[in-house]
Amino acid sequence: CGIIGIVGTKPVAERLVESLRRLEYRGYDSAGVAAQIDGKLERRRAPGKLRELEAVLADHPLPAATGIGHTRWATHGAPTERNAHPHIAGRVAVVHNGIIENFAELKAELQAKGRVFSSDTDTEVVAQLLDETLNDGLEPVAAFKATLDRLRGAYALAVLVGGEQEVILGARNGPPLAVGYGDGEMFVGSDGLALGPFTNRVAYLEDGDYVVVDHHSAKIFDHAGLPADRPIKTLAASAAVMEKGNYRHFMEKEIHDQPEGCQRTIAAYVDTLTDRTAVPGGLDFKAIERIQIVACGTSYIAGMMGKYLIEKLADLPVDVEIASEFRYREPALNAGSLAIAMSQSGETADTLAALRYCQAKGMKSAAIVNTVESTIAREVDVIWPIHCGPEIGVASTKAFTAQVSVLTALAVAAARARGRIDEAEEQRLVRVLLEAPRLIAESIQLEDAVRGIAVEVAKARDVLYLGRGPMYPLSLEGALKLKEISYIHAEGYAAGELKHGPIALVDEHTPIVILAPFDSYFEKSASNMSEVMARGGQVVFITDPDGERHAPAGARVVVTAPRCDPLIAPLVMSAPIQLLAYHVALQKGADVDQPRNLAKSVTVE
Ligand code: G6P
Repeated sequence: CGIIGIVGTKPVAERLVESLRRLEYRGYDSAGVAAQIDGKLERRRAPGKLRELEAVLADHPLPAATGIGHTRWATHGAPTERNAHPHIAGRVAVVHNGIIENFAELKAELQAKGRVFSSDTDTEVVAQLLDETLNDGLEPVAAFKATLDRLRGAYALAVLVGGEQEVILGARNGPPLAVGYGDGEMFVGSDGLALGPFTNRVAYLEDGDYVVVDHHSAKIFDHAGLPADRPIKTLAASAAVMEKGNYRHFMEKEIHDQPEGCQRTIAAYVDTLTDRTAVPGGLDFKAIERIQIVACGTSYIAGMMGKYLIEKLADLPVDVEIASEFRYREPALNAGSLAIAMSQSGETADTLAALRYCQAKGMKSAAIVNTVESTIAREVDVIWPIHCGPEIGVASTKAFTAQVSVLTALAVAAARARGRIDEAEEQRLVRVLLEAPRLIAESIQLEDAVRGIAVEVAKARDVLYLGRGPMYPLSLEGALKLKEISYIHAEGYAAGELKHGPIALVDEHTPIVILAPFDSYFEKSASNMSEVMARGGQVVFITDPDGERHAPAGARVVVTAPRCDPLIAPLVMSAPIQLLAYHVALQKGADVDQPRNLAKSVTVE
């Protein structure tokens, strides 16, 4: 979910909506705003996308200068109007991101006192409890603190108390909350992007903090109730920019942004004067015994690609695990390992928890993140940023290739540090890496070819993606992209696993996307292709010019990506699978940037 609050001097409703639009990546099941009018709380809410709320506001304006807003990714309670935030109880309006774990217990207690609930959410207990505490006679700030002390779980909160002077109360335990400093106006929001239209001066609450925000100041307190000083940072200009340009969708734009995003990222990890790697953070790869990567979703797949790259080049063992499993299964760890959290947002709750688990075991930590102001970035020893700019489309594209770019540079740097390659080979590999942006741009030119294939694929019920070596993680990514935005069932498999199960799915209705550049795996992949075709499978063969020449005849279509060194094949081969998912989704009329049920940043576990 996304949160915004404005203690302002100008009409607030439009500004809340503007900010919520920037927060829709956090969820878009419903949206709502609340404000105080003549000392009384009023709210407008609507299920569905933000435009539904805009329609409600057009009919029923909310003339006020101070208010809070919310865009929801449903956890407790269906995405209906009655479950949309803000939740109001008596004098209190609350917006919340997170999960109140003891809500059932608190709700029972409040109901026993005669309180009547009007939603199925966990959030409403916060509003009811705070109102109850105010009725006990406590001042708003003291009542807020007393309420927070009773909550278990994860929350970022913004609260309006009716009848009071214009203040917003905020709190953070887990999901992020930032305070924005304006000129005679103050803000709270889930991230810098939300505050981007209003200010670039931002302070981040720490876990356990709460804040009282008025027109001119923010008083921040820590969990013990003691005044806390949180540094005010100046946001990068990119937080202000969020435009689609000439593209129809953010995803389309972000696919096309990749040459530039990778170029900027790679430039930050190599020295172009000497063609050597130059990894920020001063880490000694010789001293590292193992690497443990933790991540979710596409970031997990990028991490898996990292395993293939780093183990092969640097002979350094890499374990990769889905953060939600890792954090609870009590994995055996070695304090000499380096933990790497991979996360576009830097806020994914499971990834953060897995990272903290590693740190508690005494491991050094690093993060490969896009949002350098994020919680994960702030908690690690070394930050390895990707430099692709904010990613808005829910299905990750340019963050994926930028993550893989960093991992490729790290693999080369680690190989050199560990004496696996000499300086000349390092320079050769760096020059290869520097070629990647141009070749990605060429690969994006395949869009027309891919658009044609998408018409066919859009008719399928199931699609299989197969690959070997680094093309295996990429086949997982291809399947994930297709699932996410076109709702077609898709699975990625190691091509060698084909005969151990998935081959049973092959028939003339199942498109099989085989990713196979002409590398050391090619012949094996070509055999798998033959096996599939022998059973009537419709093969989409994504390869390069040499692969095209050597491929067995009979593929339904061949997509020929540019020839490249195997080091950068994962980068060059990404665009065709992203474009395929994109055009299939367009064919199906699906909402590409905001697919159903998903959210871009998942700050609950
Ligand atoms: C969500 C998004 C995915 C993303 C995953 C991890 O599920 O929909 O696109 O890969 O979270 O997000 P992160 O920000 O940690 O990379």
